[in-house]
Amino acid sequence: MARVLVTRELPAGGLDPLVEHGHDVVRRDGDTPYTHAELTELVGGVDAVVCLLTDRIDESVLEAGAASHLRVVANVAVGYDNIDVVAARRLGVAVCNTPGVLDETTADVAFLLVLAASRLASEAEHDLRGGAWSGWGINQYLGNDVHGATLGLVGYGRIGRAVARRASGFGMQVLHHARHRTEMPGYVESLDDLLAQCDVLSIHVPLRDSTRHLIGARELAQLRPHAVVVNTARGPVVDEEALADALHAGTIFAAGLDVYEDEPTVHPHLLSAPRTVLLPHIGSASRATRTQMARVACQGASDVLAGRRPENLVTG
Ligand code: DGY
Repeated sequence: MARVLVTRELPAGGLDPLVEHGHDVVRRDGDTPYTHAELTELVGGVDAVVCLLTDRIDESVLEAGAASHLRVVANVAVGYDNIDVVAARRLGVAVCNTPGVLDETTADVAFLLVLAASRLASEAEHDLRGGAWSGWGINQYLGNDVHGATLGLVGYGRIGRAVARRASGFGMQVLHHARHRTEMPGYVESLDDLLAQCDVLSIHVPLRDSTRHLIGARELAQLRPHAVVVNTARGPVVDEEALADALHAGTIFAAGLDVYEDEPTVHPHLLSAPRTVLLPHIGSASRATRTQMARVACQGASDVLAGRRPENLVTG
């Protein structure tokens, strides 16, 4: 029996893979994240950590764990930019994530943002709720048609492809750009060419050094003035200030965002930007998917503790 630290309350049933194996689960009641100092202290007494993307598992946390008996960190998220994977490898601590179980749910939200931003849904609803809607007008809330538009996907992994399927159903033309040639229809070798051709840009790459500010002022300037930018990947992939500038200046039409550079803070310039739909990182937030994510992460931790190689190993 091992000791497992679970850093936040998980959906009901999420812990089952650990509980079923009789592991001793140490968990925080409530939903406040541990501080970095608390985490550093607590990892010293456990064999495994099940954490969320809001927990910064950096080199010092991993070193404190590895100096004791930490064997695995399982992130309840597919993205794992909150964990220093290089340090984990060096220290022999396994890292797991939750691939595959949130693709369709996240693609739903990406497409929701494509539709809502293109059709100015947030602005229109805001006016209605605020009593500022004076009745139907032929020139009110004129957005862009989604059907017939060209969607440019940056990144063509599982979530990007799930968004492409939805877009085809809406009669969009779908292009994609990826680091490596995909050999799939719609592949565009150069990001600049994709930017110049698309009506809607949707981002689906993980956060790495090479993707930080991948979409900055230079890239935004290549979009056409009616373009819509959607980001459900990670905030720092887009230069938020440059995006806010482009929206304020009207050099792009609209944006739909679910992720931010410094969550939960949102750049004030972005909060005041026109034609912008802002969601609080809810891409994977359906009851079924979040439960499944918790189970997959806990299963990964349980596998490592049992000496098995988990399917969702990142450090393999
Ligand atoms: C992830 O799993 O990386 C998502 O951002 C969570 O919604």
